[in-house]
Amino acid sequence: MKIRKAVIPVAGLGTRFLPATKAIPKEMLTIVDRPTIQYIVEEVVASGIDQIIFVTSEGKSAIENHFDYNFHLDAVLREKHKIALGEELNNISNLIDIVSVRQKKPLGLGHAIWTARHVVGDEPFMVLLGDDMVLSQVPCAKQMLELFDEIGESIVAIQRVPANQTHQYGIVEGEENGREKTFRVRRMVEKPAPGTTDSDMAIIGRYILMPDIFDILSTTTPGHGGEIQLTDALLALTKKRSMYAYEFDGKRYDAGDKMGYLKAIVAYGLRHTEIGKDFREHLIEIAADL
Ligand code: G1P
Repeated sequence: MKIRKAVIPVAGLGTRFLPATKAIPKEMLTIVDRPTIQYIVEEVVASGIDQIIFVTSEGKSAIENHFDYNFHLDAVLREKHKIALGEELNNISNLIDIVSVRQKKPLGLGHAIWTARHVVGDEPFMVLLGDDMVLSQVPCAKQMLELFDEIGESIVAIQRVPANQTHQYGIVEGEENGREKTFRVRRMVEKPAPGTTDSDMAIIGRYILMPDIFDILSTTTPGHGGEIQLTDALLALTKKRSMYAYEFDGKRYDAGDKMGYLKAIVAYGLRHTEIGKDFREHLIEIAADL
C-alpha cells in the first residue's frame, strides 16, 4: 500500500495572526524567502507523494495561485532576461499535482479532512497541518512513510511537551511497542483540561490515516470548542484497528503562533544557503548588545 496522496487543510481563518492575515492567508506568511505552505509542500514532494489535496475556503486563492503557472510574470521576467528567477517560479508550479476542495463551513479539522474524502478515495493517505513546520535531516513525512511500510496502520506524529502545555494539543496515551520511538495508541484526547492526563505525548500536525476514518468522521459529533475534531475520530478508529504514535526526529515549529513563527524564521534563516552565515554573525552582534 503506497501512500500517494496528502491532504493539507488550509481553510482556517488565521485569527491568531490578525491583522497580518486580514487580506492574505496565514499559509502565505513568509519564512525567509518563501511562504510557510511551500515548505510543507516541499516536504511532501521530498517524501515521494504524488498528489496534494488542499482543503480551502473563501479568500485562500493566493495559495492556489502560488503553486500555479503565472503566464504574465513569466513573460515579464523573460523580457527582463531574469531567466533563472523565471525558472525557479515555474519549478514551484511543477512541484506536484495539486487539487483543491472547498470546506464550505468552518466546522473543524475533522470536517476539513472529511471534505477531501472523494478525492482521496479508498486508500491510506497522509495529512499535514500547515502550522507545523519540522526541520529535520530526513523529512518528517518520509520518516512516517518508512514506518508505515513496516506496520501498515495509522500513525500520528508526536513530540513531548511540558505538563503545562498539554491542554494546547491532542494528547496520546499508549505504550512503547518494541520499536524505538513507536507507541501503540490506547487513548487520545483533544486539548485535555490541565491535570487530566499523565501523558506528555502531543500530536503534531502529521498523520497517516487509513480510509476507514472517513466513515467515522461522517458521524463524529462536535467535540472540543464545538468543532468536529480529528482526534475524536482517531480515538474511534483505535477501537477498530491498531494505531501508532511516532516520536519523529526533528525540531517542530508552530508557525501559527507569533513566538513559534519568529523562532522558525531564525532557525530557517540560520540554515539558509545564501544568507545563513551573515545572519548568524548579525545575531551574535545583536546578542552582544543585549
Ligand atoms: C490541531 C489538532 C491537535 C494537534 C495540533 C498540532 O490543533 O487538533 O490535536 O495537537 O493541531 O498542531 P490546532 O492547533 O489546530 O488547534
